[in-house]
Amino acid sequence: MSEREPIFLEFPVDADFIPAVRKFVAEASLIEGFTPKFSYRTEIIVDELCNNSVKYGPSTPGASIRIQCEFESDTMELTIQDPGGNPKDVQNLRRAIGMEQDRQHFLGHGLEIVRMLTSGMEVSQTETGETVIRVVKRRSQNLIDTLTE
Ligand SMILES: Nc1ncnc2c1ncn2[C@@H]1O[C@H](COP(=O)(O)OP(=O)(O)OP(=O)(O)O)[C@@H](O)[C@H]1O
Ligand SMILES: [Mg+2]
Repeated sequence: MSEREPIFLEFPVDADFIPAVRKFVAEASLIEGFTPKFSYRTEIIVDELCNNSVKYGPSTPGASIRIQCEFESDTMELTIQDPGGNPKDVQNLRRAIGMEQDRQHFLGHGLEIVRMLTSGMEVSQTETGETVIRVVKRRSQNLIDTLTE
């Protein structure tokens, strides 16, 4: 497959939009030729990350959540940016997706699921304080696939 243009989505920091957003990204992965299983898991990943952004990325009026989705022949790269949470939560987030030995204390169910369904996850902050989470999902080759295929 040739390289595709990325997909950009932007929506208000409001959980009511999440079902529509997760469906959009899941459908986009089908259009890009990924399997129904990949698409279903993509929907779960988007759901968990967006719910976290709504819960922990406090909203100022007019704030939004931005998603960038890049499909390549064998991978999907998903970037989710929220307005930025309080420093304690952002630190939890860093630890939850950081070192193996730290993880257990900071992980809730959401990020644990995302971790199992992806092959890489990293967090960064913009100069203006937004939180950016980037996950990479391969067509196969992750823990769950290894266990179930
Ligand atoms: N977008 C975010 N901004 C700031 N902090 C975050 C963000 N996402 C997660 N966190 C921090 O990381 C912790 C772990 O997130 P995780 O999704 O695993 O659990 P949870 O949301 O607390 O619970 P659950 O997902 O099981 O409902 C959160 O409790 C929060 O402190
Ligand atoms: Mg969560």
